[in-house]
Amino acid sequence: MRPRHTFALSTLLSVADNGVGRDLTAAIASVASASAPLRTTPPLESSKFKLSRLSTGRLLYTVSRSRHPLESFKSYKGRPFLYKNLDHYLGTRSLAATFSTVAPPASNSASSSAEMAQVIDQSIPKSNAWVGSSGAGGYDLRSDTMTTPTSSMLAAIQSCSLLDDVFNEDPTTIDLEAHCAALTGKEAGLFVLSGTMGNQLALRSLLTQPPHGVLCDYRSHIVKYEAGGVSSLTGATLKPVVPKNGIYLTLEDVKANAYLDDDVHTCPTRVISLENTLNGMIMPLEEVKRISAFAHEHDIKLHCDGARLWEAVASGAGSLAEFASYFDTVSLCFSKGLGAPIGSILVGTKALIKHARWVRKSIGGGLRQPGLVTAPARVAIDETFGKGPNGEGGLLRGTHVLAKEVAKIWTDLGGKLEYPVHTNMVWLDLNDAKCPGARIEELGKEVGLRFMENRLVIHFQILENRHFVVPRLEAIFKTILEEKTKNGAAFEGAKGETSMYGTE
Ligand SMILES: Cc1ncc(COP(=O)(O)O)c(C=O)c1O
Repeated sequence: MRPRHTFALSTLLSVADNGVGRDLTAAIASVASASAPLRTTPPLESSKFKLSRLSTGRLLYTVSRSRHPLESFKSYKGRPFLYKNLDHYLGTRSLAATFSTVAPPASNSASSSAEMAQVIDQSIPKSNAWVGSSGAGGYDLRSDTMTTPTSSMLAAIQSCSLLDDVFNEDPTTIDLEAHCAALTGKEAGLFVLSGTMGNQLALRSLLTQPPHGVLCDYRSHIVKYEAGGVSSLTGATLKPVVPKNGIYLTLEDVKANAYLDDDVHTCPTRVISLENTLNGMIMPLEEVKRISAFAHEHDIKLHCDGARLWEAVASGAGSLAEFASYFDTVSLCFSKGLGAPIGSILVGTKALIKHARWVRKSIGGGLRQPGLVTAPARVAIDETFGKGPNGEGGLLRGTHVLAKEVAKIWTDLGGKLEYPVHTNMVWLDLNDAKCPGARIEELGKEVGLRFMENRLVIHFQILENRHFVVPRLEAIFKTILEEKTKNGAAFEGAKGETSMYGTE
């Protein structure tokens, strides 16, 4: 067995002592002076890196995306360690190169790149969930929930605090909650385990005493996909409304369906819950404003299921703070398009969040050491959504552009769309194409792509793998539309209300 962690570790640690933010070129230069395998690695000298964090045996750094420095690594074949590792991560927005776990040959006398490669092969994990674009989510179009966390999220986990959040004393979690409150202009935030938990805590905290009703779009997650939680946790009656324009609820839809009077037969509307985006479609800020004014006037609370509000904001529909200003509560997810492994945030007034924290505890959602999941969530905001108030510098906008391109490929071939593409979702009209959901799933499987019926979700890992994904999508689209005329007569669409998830 060759020794591990002997590779200039002392030099790496001395680089660490010099702190975060140093140029990696300088760091590597000092490493190189103490270790032969890296000494003559030209690309490092010409590429710009920032040393972000160092822990024992592991050097982590992030790469400036704009310059695509990885290209130069890819073409550099003389140093298999660098080549293999960096090629492995090619296309991701951050890298974690495990310098010290790539042990040099015991005698430091690797005579050939083949020998070096063998050493490296032994040291690279065979199954690594942190490989970004080539990871599990990279070819999975079923949902943006399939995105996998990145190596910079792993780095954040490695340096997170691990204190108790039931005692409200974990700095990493408190920081995330405060950051989200600031981003949305609300007084307080509460980390929750899922989007469902965020919605349910919000509604439980906004509603007080039955009889009470919640008005929402008939396609809302709270009515279709939260296992009836609104009824069981709040006792509220849901009033699902079909929007006249087919895209989003308007004030007119709300007025026509809200129960406002004191008639003893009715269940009064106490909360309006708006989902944005809904099926990838945006509810414009102006409409939110109109509904909010109406709600205010009638003492109705307003909740936003903003699992994907990030997407609406990144598309230019308004800032997080602008949208949030019209709602009493907003829940936002980290584990969808943003790519964090777990979690959502609920924001609102201090009093409401205090109550929601209580309810969260009552359903087992109080966490002891949530830094493990709140640290990557914080990274996801900055890196995937972006640091600007409208998602500037993030990755979501690129996914919207690609979603529109994918939709165009389909429509140019004669396909129809079920919904317009506003953000990251493309809804193929497979009924029009006379294609059963199972058929597109089968066609995807044949070429290494995963589908869930007619909804294609273009998340950042699909964007990063677009050179692989897009030609395959085009081929699948052609097959489906050719089969339309061949097998169309036998096609029977789905009957009745179904769940798109099809899980058991
Ligand atoms: C709009 C919307 N809200 C809420 C949720 C629930 O999120 P979770 O799966 O984290 O409970 C989802 C899940 O996909 C969603 O799409």
